[in-house]
Amino acid sequence: MHIYTPRIFALPALADLSEKQVTAHIGLYEGYVKHVNALREQIHHLETTDKEKNAYAIMEVRRRLGFEFNGMRMHEYYFAQFEKGHEEHIENTKLAEALIEKYGSWDAFLTHFVTVGMSRGIGWSILYHDPIANTPHVAWVSDHELGQLGSLPIILAMDMWEHAFMVDFLPSEKKKYIDAFFKNLNWTVPETRFETITIPVV
Ligand SMILES: [Fe+2]
Repeated sequence: MHIYTPRIFALPALADLSEKQVTAHIGLYEGYVKHVNALREQIHHLETTDKEKNAYAIMEVRRRLGFEFNGMRMHEYYFAQFEKGHEEHIENTKLAEALIEKYGSWDAFLTHFVTVGMSRGIGWSILYHDPIANTPHVAWVSDHELGQLGSLPIILAMDMWEHAFMVDFLPSEKKKYIDAFFKNLNWTVPETRFETITIPVV
């Protein structure tokens, strides 16, 4: 059985996000990795001891996998975006061209992405690209898994769980956290993600 191991992120000191905040958040990420392994181990155990008798327990444990797995993977997208420090977006990349084509301007895209991020509740604001239709989409995902767009590559992921900012900001200061997110974002990461998309066979 594959055992997942937490990724180590080479993070610089972040602007407006304290080391205490980031350390606590990475600790939560590592918890998701641990629970992915534990859930898969649990399913295996229940199946190999008495599959019939454990059928309901297996189903219930299996339901949890999407939450834990996406909790793990989404944080990998998130923290990787801060590696190597802040880099501004470049105006004539393929990513910028695709976003300007859809949203009218770079600023209009950013405004839309932030508006989605300000949605009530906990979750993620995510920029995807649909390589089949050749169009980007911004979507809100509740928890880590509810609302994910099947198979679409993730280009940019902003964690909007309160645990992402409540060491440094009040619950009412979401917008300040979003500003900090963009202050630290290394745009070369989403640009590279966009440029390396492959078209899936569906
Ligand atoms: Fe998080």
